[in-house]
Amino acid sequence: MLSCACWLQPFLFALLASVLLTLGENCPTSCLCPDPHTVDCSGKGLTRLPDSIPLDVRRLLLSDNWIPRIPTDFLVLYSDLVYLDLRNNSLSRIEPGTLSTASRLVFLDLGSNNLTEIPKGTFGESRSLIKLRLGNNPHLSAVNEDAFQGLTSLRELELERNALSGLQVGALNQLPSLRVVRLEGNPWVCNCSFASLFSWLMDNRQKLPNGKSVPGFVS
Ligand SMILES: *[C@@H]1O[C@H](CO)[C@@H](O)[C@H](O)[C@H]1NC(C)=O
Ligand SMILES: *[C@@H]1O[C@H](CO)[C@@H](O)[C@H](O)[C@H]1NC(C)=O
Ligand SMILES: *[C@@H]1O[C@H](CO)[C@@H](O)[C@H](O)[C@H]1NC(C)=O
Repeated sequence: MLSCACWLQPFLFALLASVLLTLGENCPTSCLCPDPHTVDCSGKGLTRLPDSIPLDVRRLLLSDNWIPRIPTDFLVLYSDLVYLDLRNNSLSRIEPGTLSTASRLVFLDLGSNNLTEIPKGTFGESRSLIKLRLGNNPHLSAVNEDAFQGLTSLRELELERNALSGLQVGALNQLPSLRVVRLEGNPWVCNCSFASLFSWLMDNRQKLPNGKSVPGFVS
């Protein structure tokens, strides 16, 4: 038995090494690939998207880097993406059309970036999107009324701690599946336009985290 195991050992090592090499084959340098569909490049000091991300990636973790832009064809290439985390990067804008082909995307985190506006139709027809995080963009002052057009499955929307002084109710009304919206920590201006947002929130207060208390929109 023992001699048999000794004889097998080099063979097992070679097999293990080749398995590890195959697994690592498509993993971008300096990233981790804990399973065949996850690429984890968080906190690697990246200043752009890594090259050679496997095309069948489903979970792409890119938070805590310095990435300033997403190429417009990015989601055409990575059409299996379900989970995209770009939290805490240097994105200042999302080019129109970038997300229009994100048909499988369920979770998108663009929080803690430097976005300044969310133009009309930014998310195209991302009909699978369930959670969208856009909070902590300190210069984000404009959300177009049609910014979230087509997001028919969206349940959770985060817009907290941005620079919003107003928000058209239509932007929220277009979201038939919305369950939770976070709006706290914005410098709201309480003029006449604001009154309609306020009454929407009164009618939909169960969608605010911790519900009930509308003034200040909960912090
Ligand atoms: C954001 O990313 C930078 C760069 O990796 C990191 O130093 C910083 O701690 C991160 N900030 C937060 C709030 O995680
Ligand atoms: C963020 O955007 C603002 C407004 O466009 C700009 O003044 C600022 O320099 C940007 N900050 C970073 C860290 O890119
Ligand atoms: C109310 O304030 C918002 C944000 O500053 C502004 O966009 C809007 O035009 C104002 N509406 C009125 C009726 O003054």
